[in-house]
Amino acid sequence: MALVKLAGVSKVYKSLKGADYHAVKDFSLDIESGDFFCLLGTSGCGKTTVLNMIAGFEQATSGEIRIAGNTIRGPGVDRGVVFQGDDSLCGWLTALGNIEFGLRMRGMARKERSEKARYYLALVGLQGQENKYPSELSGGMKQRIQIARVLANEPQMLLMDEPFAALDAHTRTEMQTELINIWRATGKTVFFITHDIDEAIVLSTKIGVMHAGPGSKLKGLVDIDLLPEERDRTHDRFVDVYRHVHSLIRDEVAIALKRQALPTGSLQ
Ligand SMILES: Nc1ncnc2c1ncn2[C@@H]1O[C@H](COP(=O)(O)OP(=O)(O)OP(=O)(O)O)[C@@H](O)[C@H]1O
Ligand SMILES: [Mg+2]
Repeated sequence: MALVKLAGVSKVYKSLKGADYHAVKDFSLDIESGDFFCLLGTSGCGKTTVLNMIAGFEQATSGEIRIAGNTIRGPGVDRGVVFQGDDSLCGWLTALGNIEFGLRMRGMARKERSEKARYYLALVGLQGQENKYPSELSGGMKQRIQIARVLANEPQMLLMDEPFAALDAHTRTEMQTELINIWRATGKTVFFITHDIDEAIVLSTKIGVMHAGPGSKLKGLVDIDLLPEERDRTHDRFVDVYRHVHSLIRDEVAIALKRQALPTGSLQ
């Protein structure tokens, strides 16, 4: 049984002027336990909308979303969300304090939560940085702390919305390697949004490509069965997968650009 199941999910937003905007329509997807699933699509096609519905931050207008067989009705400790950027770290808490925060809120004893926080701090490669404050950490370090903080709550699943988009190319590559190692070490199920086809191929076991919006759904699913040594941008098999994923997304980029060029009223 799939860990997460979206069946015929639609999301209609009301604009501030009261008009309906059909962001996602009849969207269906199964995410298996242990999958590293990457969602790709043009800007505005509805990726974050899908993540927010799985996270329980947004309600689906129709259709059903289940996790481990239970309908999702709101946020839960079984799902940890890593946002883009570093805004959600508490500036007045140290690296360790930030990782411990959720555990403290849950009433975990000081010694136990400190041990757990140190374990996850080490897992993201930040031993020795426990007493630094966010303002003393680099962008990549802050993003690692965010991931450690989410992992410390031991969710079944990680939901990540373009978590590395703001990082420089070198740090981004490092973070990708780190995340694959964490995924291997913890066996978590990951739902990861990116604009970057390379990033999706390096990381995932499966890629979903969305149609351009409005009323978007999945256009195609690609199983990524590359060996670790083939997850190299210059490897022939990597290039073959890239071509395939690119062919799925290319037309959607053209459609999205064409729609952007039209007056807003003609989008519906
Ligand atoms: N709260 C909202 N109210 C009204 N419209 C919304 C709301 N949130 C998103 N939308 C619209 O729904 C569509 C999908 O938005 P979403 O943020 O899911 O796209 P996305 O694929 O994540 O885009 P990006 O790649 O730029 O992050 C967009 O057209 C957006 O304007
Ligand atoms: Mg988004």
